[in-house]
Amino acid sequence: MAFPTETVYGLGASIALPEAVARIFTAKGRPPGHPLIVHGADASVLDRYAREVPPLARVLAARFWPGPLTLVLERSGAVPDVVTGGRETVGLRVPAQPLALAMLRDVGAGVAAPSANPFGRTSPTTARHVLADLGDRVDLVLDGGPCGVGLESTILDLTTSPPTVLRTGGLPVDVLEAAAGVALERVATGPARAPGMLAAHYAPRARVVIAEDHDAALAAAAGAGDRRVAILSGSPVAGRPAPIVPLVPDEPGAEGYARALYDLLRRADALGVDLVVAVPPPPGGLGDAIRDRLGRAAADQPG
Ligand code: TXA
Ligand code: MG
Repeated sequence: MAFPTETVYGLGASIALPEAVARIFTAKGRPPGHPLIVHGADASVLDRYAREVPPLARVLAARFWPGPLTLVLERSGAVPDVVTGGRETVGLRVPAQPLALAMLRDVGAGVAAPSANPFGRTSPTTARHVLADLGDRVDLVLDGGPCGVGLESTILDLTTSPPTVLRTGGLPVDVLEAAAGVALERVATGPARAPGMLAAHYAPRARVVIAEDHDAALAAAAGAGDRRVAILSGSPVAGRPAPIVPLVPDEPGAEGYARALYDLLRRADALGVDLVVAVPPPPGGLGDAIRDRLGRAAADQPG
């Protein structure tokens, strides 16, 4: 079953049904062994699914749940191997989405869910995206409308000292760090402890290149020859030649950009665009996670 969260749509199964969890991997084409996040209706997931709950986990849960933060902790015996890929840790999160919370209360057990997209592609932020990608492979899609945040959760590993940010996301790391009261370690691109950390991920079919400003974007677009080009940017690019497709979020700022990002990348594919020149928002706050996702989309070079 696919369901909305405030970040992206998830493809979920109760962790009390390990065979159902295994089917998630088949549906996504995801390599087995990649760990799934366990979603719950409230912070009681900490005591149910973590072997030990460090005080910082309670502080962060109280502050940010429901919300776009995943905490990685040592797992309890209630979490089966299929969920964690055999790891001794588990990612836990309480999503800030009323339909998701109602579903999670009804299920009564943790719901393991990755983003509801084929492995390696852009995450879905509407029910329609899920139907387009996995419609023939899911029984049910709960439609909660477009996701409010639009980027995956920020993942914090609390089993390391200091804690490690495994993925930037919907909760800005500076906000998280201020609440944690300690300097957090940040994982750069590299051999992944988390598949979301692969260099190439979150990719549309179109090739993506990054341009730091509008002038650089126009120059990159001009050099694209007869390929079909789009410019993705937070505001319209003045002097854009008509054949270049504009991809501009409806709402301003990094929040508007985040909310629209995956839909705009999908729109590029739907329009048959070959090359997306992306002008990311400035660093800081949500801008960091958007820059991270665009960088990963650009690192994936489809043939
Ligand atoms: O916003 C989100 O987090 C969405 C919604 C549906 O909640 N979920 C999501 O799931 O993005 P997925 O599977 O696409 O990405 C989850 C990331 C993966 O990179 C996975 O490796 C990492 O979380 N992860 C999960 N459990 C982990 C663990 N025990 N240790 C390290 N990384 C873990
Ligand atoms: Mg994903």
